[in-house]
Formats: sequence, structure tokens, C-alpha cells
Amino acid sequence: MNPAKKNEELIKELRVSKIREGTVIDHIDAGRALHVLRMLGLTGGEGHVIAVVMNVESRKLGRKDIVKVEGLELEEEQVSKIALIAPSATINIIRDYRVVEKIRVKTPGRVVGLLRCINPNCVSRLEREPIISVFHVESVRPLRLRCEYCGAMLGQEDVIVQLTGA
Ligand code: CTP
Ligand code: ZN
Repeated sequence: MNPAKKNEELIKELRVSKIREGTVIDHIDAGRALHVLRMLGLTGGEGHVIAVVMNVESRKLGRKDIVKVEGLELEEEQVSKIALIAPSATINIIRDYRVVEKIRVKTPGRVVGLLRCINPNCVSRLEREPIISVFHVESVRPLRLRCEYCGAMLGQEDVIVQLTGA
């Protein structure tokens, strides 16, 4: 690599410092970092050191967002939810400045119990004896989910609203 190019790479790398202990959610679709933070319930008031980088260049995605949270480890359900907001995300677990685990999220074929059908008459939403929701993933980009019971379709915006409460 020529020196000017190398310098540019180093400067990019320094845009946000490395973290010591915690989680880096990388390769988030550009513009979705705040949705991911909201889904995780992080407002800043919890005291974690948080870095958010938005719309930086990415070889894979063109542009991407990154969220770094010191002192946080994600639960399995949170990882499943990230897959529905940022299907290309990688979750890096950092200990003592090193990446000790890298999880590539995977959008599942079926989403069980995480989302609510948009059809108010769907059997999964009956007041008495509600049934656990099941959606089939028809497409990842754009995200399209079909309700097992009534066939109603959920899109990316519906999913973001439900998972972030926004
Ligand atoms: N990272 C960090 N703090 C550390 C180690 C890594 O913030 N102590 C960040 C890096 O800046 C990067 C992500 O965690 O955004 C993943 O790090 P690494 O696996 O070293 O980078 P890449 O090899 O580029 O990852 P990938 O192949 O997933 O793109
Ligand atoms: Zn339904």
C-alpha cells in the first residue's frame, strides 16, 4: 500500500477508538444504528460508554453504521432482533481489546413469538387464548414476513416500529 493510502486507512481506523471490553455491532445497514440502540433499550442513561458511527464507507455494504458499547453482552433474543433490523450485522465480543468472538447474524426462515400481526382480527391476536405469533420470512432485502395464520405481510418499517417502540 502506498504511504498516502496507508495514512488514510489509519485515519479511518482512528475515527472511533477501540473498546476494551464489550460489544461492537458492525456492518449495520446505513442509517439503522439508532434503531439498534433503541431496540437494545440503550438511551445513554445506563452509563455505558457508547460510540455510534453512521454512514461510513464499507466494502460490503457501500455505507454502514457501527455501534460500540463498553460493558455490554447481548442476549440471544437481542441478537435475533438485530437480524431483523440489520441483516448483515456482525456482533463482535471484545475482551481485553481483542475480538474473542464474531457472530454473523442470520435472518431465520421463521420468526416465532417476537412480532405481532398487523391484522387486528388475526387469531394470534385474539383476546382470549392468543396464539404465539409465527411469521415466515419471504424476503430479507427488502424484509417481508408473512403471518402463518392470516397471511398478512409485515415490512421492514413495521418490524422496526415494533422492535423499537418508535
Ligand atoms: N473493535 C473495537 N475495539 C476492539 C477491537 C475491535 O472497536 N478492541 C472493532 C473494530 O473497529 C471493528 C470491529 O470491532 O469495527 C471488528 O473488528 P475486527 O474483527 O478486528 O475487524 P474486521 O476484521 O474488519 O472485521 P470484519 O471482518 O467483521 O469486517
Ligand atoms: Zn396474522
